[in-house]
Amino acid sequence: MKKIAAAQLKVGMFVVNAGLSWMDYPYLYQEEGELTSSEQIDAILEGGYAEVFVDPGRGSYLGLKDEGPLEDSLLGHADSLSGTQLKKINLVEEMGRARKIYADSLQFAREFLQGARMGYLVDYTQSERLVESVIDSVVRNEDAMVSLTKLRSFDEYSYTHSINVAVLAVAFGKNLGLPRDRLRALGSAGIFHDLGKSRIPEAILNKPGKLTAEEFEVMKSHPRFGFELLVQQGSASDQVLLGVLQHHEKFNGKGYPGGVSGNAISLLARIIAVADVYDALTSERVYKKGMMPYKALSLMYTMRGEDFHIGYVERFIKSMGIYPVGSFVRLSTREYAVVTGSNMAAPLFPQVTVVLTPGQRGCPPRELDLDAARNGGETIEIIECLNPRDFKIDPAAYLM
Ligand SMILES: [Fe+2]
Repeated sequence: MKKIAAAQLKVGMFVVNAGLSWMDYPYLYQEEGELTSSEQIDAILEGGYAEVFVDPGRGSYLGLKDEGPLEDSLLGHADSLSGTQLKKINLVEEMGRARKIYADSLQFAREFLQGARMGYLVDYTQSERLVESVIDSVVRNEDAMVSLTKLRSFDEYSYTHSINVAVLAVAFGKNLGLPRDRLRALGSAGIFHDLGKSRIPEAILNKPGKLTAEEFEVMKSHPRFGFELLVQQGSASDQVLLGVLQHHEKFNGKGYPGGVSGNAISLLARIIAVADVYDALTSERVYKKGMMPYKALSLMYTMRGEDFHIGYVERFIKSMGIYPVGSFVRLSTREYAVVTGSNMAAPLFPQVTVVLTPGQRGCPPRELDLDAARNGGETIEIIECLNPRDFKIDPAAYLM
């Protein structure tokens, strides 16, 4: 068995599942079997995988058996990632800028969704400007924009949702190592993914409860409507159009509108799908409470290989952290804290701010880096994730 860079894969090589944890090896492709087409290899590379274990003794590819040992290193991929982690600027510093960008984007979402209902075309140039500033903020410190997606108000769901999906998709895309032009397309596809809902009757759109079969059929036309509206507008690239059209397609082919499956679903659509479901699950609506992020992530984990492509939920979790910024947690010290910084390298040990004593009394906020504490010999663990509202805590107050 040899570990090679994904870029060195050839048709006929036999991929081995080494059984390694995706938490430790998020960029290792592990779906066992012989590679039968170059499209399959393209899909692995597009999926952001950096390395693969192959068995030279199996598969029809002969080259491996003759060649000397192949390079046994991780690509620049993960290295460049940790590089961006290091360059992060302070969360508090980024928060002010991120709030402004989020507020501007939200205003834009209100305008284009209301405008689309009245038959106006979207202002694509403005969306591109906003996406650019979202990407800049995410590159500086993704925790700022990502934490803002948790602070929405439920009466504005349709607007906040389109911005949240764009933000989450861009942050995820950055962590997958996608180049900037892909992030731009991802941001635009995120903002406009539900544009087609402007053509769905409000009675169906805002129905608080389960849709009837007929209503669901109407609802299922929104990705195509959105695609058509963007085609009509004329500025969106094919990547963006596909991202919008396919955002409800599933890996197993049971999605809509095309019922396409597997690699026929574009990379952008796969990413948007993960961000979309995560935001929908964790959002507070008039008729339902938002699911706690860690619960949403574990539910989504059970949907991998069905709704989502193998590896995507896993890497989304890695990207968000098990405890996303803004989560309210109880520590092994029995104190209560707000998660104020993610740590991709050690997702179980984020940065937190202690806000309540073991007796649930307020205390002066105390910053604590769980990873640094652990490295210093004092292991403090997160025991459970709690709903801050039950403790009259507003996590946002500790992120400023
Ligand atoms: Fe949708």
